[in-house]
Amino acid sequence: MFSNDESSNPSTNPSMQDIIDTCQHPRRTFIKGSIGVATWAAFGGMSLGGISSQALAGSDKPAATLIGFTPVAANTLPLIDAVSVPIGYTAQVFVAWGDALGLGANWDPSTAMTEAQQLGSYGAHTDGMHFFPFGRDFSLGPIKLDLGGNVHGLLVSNSEYNDTGLIHSTMSFATDAMTLDRVNTQLAAHGVNVVDALRVGKHWKVNRPSAFARRITGKTPMKISGPAAGHALLKTDADPSGTKVLGTLNNCANGYTPWGTYLACEENFNGYFGTAAANLTAVPRTALEARYGLSAGGFGYRWHEAESRFDLRAGGKVSNEPNRFGWVVEIDPFDPKSTPIKRTALGRFKHEGAWVTVDDDNRVAVYMGDDERFDYIYKFVCAKKFNPRNLKANRDLLDDGTLYVAKFNADGSGVWLPLVHGQNGLTAANGFADQGEVVIKARMAGDVLGATKMDRPEWGAVHPKTREVYMTLTNNTRRTADQIDAANPRPANVHGHIIRWREAGNTVVATGFEWDLFVQAGDSLDPNPNLQGNINGDNYGSPDGLWFDRDGRLWIQTDQAGDGTGAYANIGGNVMMCADVTTGETRRFLTSPPNAEVTGVTSTPDGKTMFVGIQHPGEDWVTSFTENSSWPDNGGNGPTTASQAGPSKPRSAVVVITKDDGGVIGS
Ligand code: FEO
Ligand code: CA
Ligand code: CA
Ligand code: CA
Repeated sequence: MFSNDESSNPSTNPSMQDIIDTCQHPRRTFIKGSIGVATWAAFGGMSLGGISSQALAGSDKPAATLIGFTPVAANTLPLIDAVSVPIGYTAQVFVAWGDALGLGANWDPSTAMTEAQQLGSYGAHTDGMHFFPFGRDFSLGPIKLDLGGNVHGLLVSNSEYNDTGLIHSTMSFATDAMTLDRVNTQLAAHGVNVVDALRVGKHWKVNRPSAFARRITGKTPMKISGPAAGHALLKTDADPSGTKVLGTLNNCANGYTPWGTYLACEENFNGYFGTAAANLTAVPRTALEARYGLSAGGFGYRWHEAESRFDLRAGGKVSNEPNRFGWVVEIDPFDPKSTPIKRTALGRFKHEGAWVTVDDDNRVAVYMGDDERFDYIYKFVCAKKFNPRNLKANRDLLDDGTLYVAKFNADGSGVWLPLVHGQNGLTAANGFADQGEVVIKARMAGDVLGATKMDRPEWGAVHPKTREVYMTLTNNTRRTADQIDAANPRPANVHGHIIRWREAGNTVVATGFEWDLFVQAGDSLDPNPNLQGNINGDNYGSPDGLWFDRDGRLWIQTDQAGDGTGAYANIGGNVMMCADVTTGETRRFLTSPPNAEVTGVTSTPDGKTMFVGIQHPGEDWVTSFTENSSWPDNGGNGPTTASQAGPSKPRSAVVVITKDDGGVIGS
């Protein structure tokens, strides 16, 4: 997804130029840190992500690799218009934009999309996803799982945004008017999909009709809860209570809870708002609007021309509607009538995703990143413990707790700084009247506390055994040499890196942690040292999606231009990699069609079926605004459910991957 052209973080948090020489602190610092080996020994027999098993056990034996496949070749020029996976694996289209989820017909992609069609079909631009297996009772008591969950479940996924040229086939974006009808169709293309996924024999299909099938869109009524609910900054003429909002937008990565709910995260919400330029002259942009990147033009959606809800100056005054976006939204996929809830305690920023973990004491933390150049990494710690015996009792856990922002020190230590009203300068005198205002202005609170400015935090992932947290920092070509720091060590960071940390004492309530860089991505053949990276294995750039499978394999998905040119001549199009974090070994598992992003990954509980999202195939907004793909309707990964009249417009789609011998994916 495109990002703001302006960097909206004006704070002067230290750039740490003075510690450049120490920024590549060696791994041994990490091992010798405050988390003792004895603590980790408590995880006896488990894979120790990041720490070499040899270092801990004193063994000379190399660790056995978790990765058992032969890497697929890079998709270099001329790019193949298909998804490719290693020999011994099969990738087939599972569901694509416009495919019906309930009753009704699949969309014919040669026609313009309509609101009615879109409300019953898979949304545009698939992104983060999670598979909720049937057979797990999330409502009544302890988690139970029967074998049924490996062949039947709810695939819940985000539809991040839409491509205006594809959705309105006949619209000339330059000259045609934006209409309310078009806005409503686009709103319906956004949001969340609940797909009933069923394996029949060897094949997976959308099971329909289904009582669970659901579209949540940019217009679905939602509740606002937590410290900002009812706040003056959330009240609008349409909602004087400040507790009810229509819809969720730009849901990028995601999360899920151990109590059975899905977390959709609102990322570049600012792009949907706009106003006539003269309106921002008459009533100038506020500091809050500027810090969240709101502007007259937005990202060019032009919704404000037909729908006043998206006009920053509707009625000639500053609109609070943008303050009602930028949150984490909790959804119960097993109750199709449930109202999604925006959990404001988790802060308002450009949420990439929300990764929940529970420690040995049943304390709960949510790790989150703000995907903007020079923005921050956050953690939310729930006040109450997780109750594994009564899952319903956890339903409002995300309303009460402490939000922290991360500061990464040059010596490999780190601190979680609390965003708590009344502390550390977060006072009324500084523009934070109460905790509601702290979370609404979370970015500005992070500025006050001196958080570390990161290279665009994207997905996080928590190791299933060690609880070590990994997070992608996708790239930041605007970081200059005088702005580098230990955690963001490359100027003009084209290829990005992956940072990781572990909490002091391995408890999620810790306010201190140890960190290091897992990898700097790049092309080892590139003559420019700043672009080479240090990958142990196949090259890639711009890591974005990140996910640990049940065995601790780290799956890395990329989001670069995907056209195989320039710095990507050797790397090729976008990919999904598989890494063994103990050895660092990394192999290329999947390549994508031209100009596509690989984003979203989940699996059945047995690890034998994997779902992977392919977003915006063919989207070439960089050079020509043309579409360089007709996947998936070109049949590149088996028949789709759409009209097969011939290659047509490209569609984002989810592929389902199985191993031909029935084994665990990646093994
Ligand atoms: Fe939607 Fe940060 O990617
Ligand atoms: Ca993208
Ligand atoms: Ca992303
Ligand atoms: Ca990205």
